[in-house]
Amino acid sequence: MIKKAVFPAAGLGTRFLPATKASPKEMLPLVDKPLIQYAVEEATGCGCEELIIITGKQKRAIEDHFDSAFELEDALVKKGKKELLEMVRKLNHINFAYIRQRAPLGLGHAILCAKPFVDGDLFAVLLSDDVISPGETLLSGMIKLATEKQAPVVALETVDEKEVEKYGIIKGEDEGGGIYRINALVEKPKPKDAPSRLGVIGRYILTPDIFDILETLAPGKGGEVQLTDALNQLAAKRPVYGYLFKGKRYDAGDKLGFLEATVELALKDSALSAGFREFLIGLMKNELSH
Ligand code: G1P
Repeated sequence: MIKKAVFPAAGLGTRFLPATKASPKEMLPLVDKPLIQYAVEEATGCGCEELIIITGKQKRAIEDHFDSAFELEDALVKKGKKELLEMVRKLNHINFAYIRQRAPLGLGHAILCAKPFVDGDLFAVLLSDDVISPGETLLSGMIKLATEKQAPVVALETVDEKEVEKYGIIKGEDEGGGIYRINALVEKPKPKDAPSRLGVIGRYILTPDIFDILETLAPGKGGEVQLTDALNQLAAKRPVYGYLFKGKRYDAGDKLGFLEATVELALKDSALSAGFREFLIGLMKNELSH
C-alpha cells in the first residue's frame, strides 16, 4: 500500500490566462469539482491518506477548499441538506499538508520540496492537469506494479508524433501486458529526436532515492529542474517501469482539453446528461445547417 501522494500545484497556469492570473488553475471546475479534487479523489480511492500539496503564490484557495467549512456545514445541517453536507464533508478525514515552492523552478524542484514529508516511503505523484476519467484503474495498477517490484513506475500513453514535444518521452523495452522497462527518458524532444511515441502522463510512483538525484540535478529543458531528467539518471542505476494507459485522459490544463473534459464529464453526470445532450444535439444541428 502507498499512503502518501504529492500534488505539485505551484505552476503559473500560463496556458489558461487570464483565468489564472489571480486564481489557481487547479481550482478551475470541471462541471462542479475543481481539477485538483479529481486527482485527490483518485489518490484517496487507491488508499492514499496523507496528501501533500506543493503550492505557491495565489494558491490559497486550494487550502481553503480542502479545509472544513464550519459555517457552511452548520447552515446545511440546520437546513437538513444531507446530500450537500455529505458532498462538502467527503474529504474531511484526509490529512493534507501544504508546502510552498518559493519559486517556480520546475517539477523536479517541486517534488524535492516534499522530501521531509515522504522520505523513506514509496509515494505517488499526481499532476492535476491530467484528468483521468473517474472509474479508470490507472493509479491502482501502477501502485500494484510498484509495490511488487519495489521500483518507480511512470504512466505512459502513446501520443501522436507531433505531440511528443509536450511530454517526457521514454526509450524502453516492452515486457508485455502494457509494462515497459525504461532505459532512458527525454523531456519534450523534437519529433525527429524522440526515442519513441510513448509519452509520460502525470502519474508517477516514486522511490525515495529520486531525492538524492534531484538534490544535485542541474536545470534542464526551459531552465527548470526536470523530473524527467532525474528519472533518466535513476533508470541508469535501477529498474524503472512504464505502465501503459489505454483509458481516457484529458489534458485539462489546456483550453481545448478542458472543454473536451467538461463536455464528456457533463454527459456522464446523471443529473445533467439528458438536458445537456439535448442542448448539444440542437447546437450541432444548427451548426451543420450553416
Ligand atoms: C510535465 C512533465 C512531462 C510530462 C507531463 C505530463 O510537463 O515535465 O515530462 O510528460 O508533465 O502531463 P508539463 O505538462 O507540466 O509541462
